[in-house]
Amino acid sequence: MRVLDLCCGLGGASEAFVRAGDEVTRVDNDPRFAKVPFTVIADVRTFDEGVDWDVILASPPCGQFSKVRRMFGGPIVNPDLSIVNACFAVRRRHPRAVFILENACHLKDFIGPPACRRGARYFWGDVGILPTGTWNKWGGSWEPSRPSYVPKGWQTGSSEDRARWPLPISEAVRHNAAVLDALLVAVTRRSRSGVG
Ligand SMILES: C[S@@+](CC[C@H](N)C(=O)[O-])C[C@H]1O[C@@H](n2cnc3c(N)ncnc32)[C@H](O)[C@@H]1O
Repeated sequence: MRVLDLCCGLGGASEAFVRAGDEVTRVDNDPRFAKVPFTVIADVRTFDEGVDWDVILASPPCGQFSKVRRMFGGPIVNPDLSIVNACFAVRRRHPRAVFILENACHLKDFIGPPACRRGARYFWGDVGILPTGTWNKWGGSWEPSRPSYVPKGWQTGSSEDRARWPLPISEAVRHNAAVLDALLVAVTRRSRSGVG
């Protein structure tokens, strides 16, 4: 599958796709992530994503929408939705792709209820069933062995590491996306051949 990982950070969302040998492109505007394999440094609001993607993953920054922010900062007024909107704009340009957006609880106040939640992570789009797992207090980055590409400074517990999708979530998303993609391909073929 061809996979686009928007706002990729350390690449946790697409990690299972990389391990399975899928064609992954990761996009982040923070140059520190240039060392993460398959990462293009670009702003999703201006990135020309070109290719016909099978799967689009998006994890826009969630600081504005967290429960903690809402609890201590009061009502969230006029948040900057430009990055979230840019992710949905990419989605609209690729209507056949499986699309999953991950963020924090209170994004729901602006784009409607999520499809599901695991720990502090909330998911919108074509998510399917995700594992429940054993969640640590950060909402899930509990993998015992970390991939070797994590550079110094991003140890367990750093904010970049906490933001990273746990591998079991990435694996479940890949499994669900592969099933959905196969279904979509079959349906598209059927309708093109005039069957049904
Ligand atoms: C929640 S983190 C992503 C975590 C990631 N899914 C993972 O598993 O490691 C959000 C990321 O969005 C990136 N970001 C923020 N603004 C962006 C923009 N305008 N374009 C691209 N990436 C952006 C940040 O640098 C950060 O790495």
